[in-house]
Amino acid sequence: MALNVVIAGGGFGGLYAARRLERRLPRHSARITLVTDQNFLLYTPLLPGAASGSLEPRHVVVPLREELDWTDIRLARVTSVDPDAKKLRMNLLDGSHLLGTDCRPQALMRARAARYPLRMLRDVPRAWQEKYFDRDDAFARVRPELRAAVQWRTGDVTRLCEPGTWDLILCRNLTMYLHPHVADRIWNALEDALRPGGFLVLGKAERPVGAQRLGSIAPCIYRKDRV
Ligand SMILES: Cc1cc2nc3c(=O)[nH]c(=O)nc-3n(C[C@H](O)[C@H](O)[C@H](O)COP(=O)(O)OP(=O)(O)OC[C@H]3O[C@@H](n4cnc5c(N)ncnc54)[C@H](O)[C@@H]3O)c2cc1C
Ligand SMILES: C[S@@+](CC[C@H](N)C(=O)[O-])C[C@H]1O[C@@H](n2cnc3c(N)ncnc32)[C@H](O)[C@@H]1O
Repeated sequence: MALNVVIAGGGFGGLYAARRLERRLPRHSARITLVTDQNFLLYTPLLPGAASGSLEPRHVVVPLREELDWTDIRLARVTSVDPDAKKLRMNLLDGSHLLGTDCRPQALMRARAARYPLRMLRDVPRAWQEKYFDRDDAFARVRPELRAAVQWRTGDVTRLCEPGTWDLILCRNLTMYLHPHVADRIWNALEDALRPGGFLVLGKAERPVGAQRLGSIAPCIYRKDRV
């Protein structure tokens, strides 16, 4: 019977276990599943370099999909493990990983609450309003199952752009407040964090000046070249 291996956590232990198994076992002779709540490894020994400024923060993270060849990576949160019964429970992040960041905790509190005056939904198609929102009085709130699928983190994008490989990055109306040389660094980090073919959405007044790998495909929308 083929081996069925599940690894919980994509840190040092998890990534190296999966990589060693991939190298030792004939390709696809086993089913290796790595369950992790982040799609990258944080390279902790290099953190002091990032903190002191001698390294770019984006250089201390390693995207798991680039390191592993045939391991099945599941973005999910492990909720319990029972080795005797060979059972691991997890909350799937529905195949998608939705992450929101802001440098202000108050902004994240509002985003988590996901409660909006009804007038703000005027451009949202009616079918989506019914499917994804609950209404109370003059407000609409994003349904709990959708709220639960999003992770929120406090973060300063000028110091650490969330590592990835992301299919879509929405970064609207942020860089317009920054000094151009700081914005340049952000374009670079966003380009790195996008998968080839992935999309970046900016505000109307923003342009990724100097970003070599981003092509404009529609107003405010840029795609990372596949090469
Ligand atoms: C600043 C710093 C410097 C260090 N320098 C060194 C060094 O020079 N040499 C050295 O040997 N060690 C060093 N360490 C220690 C080293 O980082 C740890 O020993 C190592 O990361 C432990 O590996 P791990 O796989 O057990 O955990 P981690 O690397 O922490 O990985 C755990 C992974 O599991 C994921 N996860 C957690 N909970 C869940 C869940 N419920 N569901 C799904 N996924 C989950 C996390 O997101 C993470 O990806 C350093 C640590 C720090 C903080
Ligand atoms: C004008 S609002 C735009 C919000 C939203 N993107 C939109 O388009 O409606 C700018 C947001 O960027 C956040 N911000 C500003 N500088 C930041 C930084 N360096 N890192 C992370 N967030 C930042 C602010 O806290 C604020 O919530």
